[in-house]
Amino acid sequence: MCCSECGCYDAFCDRCCPCVSSGARDTILCCACCLAVLAGVVLLLVLLLAYCFIRHAEVAVVDASLTRLALATSPATAFAYNLSLTLTVRNRNWAMSVRNTQPLEADYSFDGQRFERVRLADEGSTHPAGKTQVHHLVSGSDGAYVALGNAGVAEFKGENKTGVFQVEVALSGEVRYQAHFTKCKFQAKCPLKLQLAPPGTPAVVFEKVKCKLAPACRGRGSEILPHF
Ligand SMILES: *[C@@H]1O[C@H](CO)[C@@H](O)[C@H](O)[C@H]1NC(C)=O
Ligand SMILES: *[C@@H]1O[C@H](CO)[C@@H](O)[C@H](O)[C@H]1NC(C)=O
Repeated sequence: MCCSECGCYDAFCDRCCPCVSSGARDTILCCACCLAVLAGVVLLLVLLLAYCFIRHAEVAVVDASLTRLALATSPATAFAYNLSLTLTVRNRNWAMSVRNTQPLEADYSFDGQRFERVRLADEGSTHPAGKTQVHHLVSGSDGAYVALGNAGVAEFKGENKTGVFQVEVALSGEVRYQAHFTKCKFQAKCPLKLQLAPPGTPAVVFEKVKCKLAPACRGRGSEILPHF
């Protein structure tokens, strides 16, 4: 009955159940067949939504504190510094976990020159679907080499006068999304303005900084069909 009453069901049945004679179209069997096709289509759509469309991570620096940043110029330019950061990485996919196919690292740089490199996650580690991972990074050195050159030294002196330093935190790694074959470069840049607050001085309120992502998947993009 349901099949003969609706033209689109009829068309469905023509295609999927040609063995059933037209007289028997309104049997329960045919309706079940139509429903099965519909359910299949819905299931396929859900799986497509869950696994085909990659949503890249959301990265933010939610807290930061710079308690020391001093420059030594001899024998080479080097920073004596203490910097702690709280960084969050959110996997925005509700069904797919993300696997690190290369270690996830954070580089700190001043005026384009790197002075620290921190590992956040090892190769092979995974990030479950929908979860936010929080990284507390505490680093410090009495002499971290930084190739500032005289241009960088001038920039440091300028920022030193204001007490606010521009430090960039850059994340880099490579990931593979669950059910996908392609690997994607994972790169995020977080430009920070850090107010120097040596111990004993009032703490500085840090406003959350959202990082810019530059994802790039190797090969022919991320449109490769998943293997169910
Ligand atoms: C600052 O960094 C130095 C060198 O790594 C370390 O010895 C010292 O404990 C750190 N100070 C604080 C307050 O974290
Ligand atoms: C940075 O400023 C501090 C005081 O604000 C000063 O003692 C220090 O010499 C300055 N460093 C440089 C490299 O200008």
